[in-house]
Amino acid sequence: MREGDDVADAIDLEAELRRLMIAIARDMVARRFITATEGNLSTRLDPERLLITPTSTNKGRLTENQLVVVDRSGRVLEGRGQPSSEIDLHLTVYRERPDVNAVVHAHPPMATAFTVAGVELAQRTLPEIVVLFGSIPTAPYGTPTTPELAKTVEGLVRDANALLLEKHGSLTLGRTLVEAYENLERVEWAAEVTLWARLLGKVEPLPDAQMEKLLAIRAEKAAVGSSAAD
Ligand code: 13P
Repeated sequence: MREGDDVADAIDLEAELRRLMIAIARDMVARRFITATEGNLSTRLDPERLLITPTSTNKGRLTENQLVVVDRSGRVLEGRGQPSSEIDLHLTVYRERPDVNAVVHAHPPMATAFTVAGVELAQRTLPEIVVLFGSIPTAPYGTPTTPELAKTVEGLVRDANALLLEKHGSLTLGRTLVEAYENLERVEWAAEVTLWARLLGKVEPLPDAQMEKLLAIRAEKAAVGSSAAD
């Protein structure tokens, strides 16, 4: 392949990622995973550059040219706005997880309600969630928009593709933007089902023997290199 073709492919990919990020951000607002200026999304453009939403903007009304390009230390390379105030959170994930190419931070109401109430989410209750995520851990409280928050997820993101941030919201990761967003959808689905179930009656955890079978499926999927969702 000629060098010019590589450059053209990279430009196409970046344009596609910009379109996708805007489409997902709009969907997140429409589905109330975020409201007003909440939430932020990022994706790797290449090993050195990230595309991220600008701070303090309504993510449902963003346009492709408002997205910001930063380097691996968060320095702005392109774009007029400032990158998300949660950039440290995103950079921490990319540093800890070379396999992750996209990060979505949201405030999904039901999942956030679980962490505000101090109730663990979907532990040993929903088979799909066990296979997909193992569990959905909650990172201890850290002040939003500060490096302190990023510090709280440092260890947890090594083993989790979905987590809650205590009294704050969710953080979901994926190999692609679509996967990171679908992981957010799954977190909120788990919260909704768990909430209804708790209202309807007592929620019994899956027995050890059933958990073992689900965790074996999870390990099998990881061994063949597919995400648990495949
Ligand atoms: P930004 O607009 O700076 O990305 O912040 C939104 C948010 O949700 C902070 O937690």
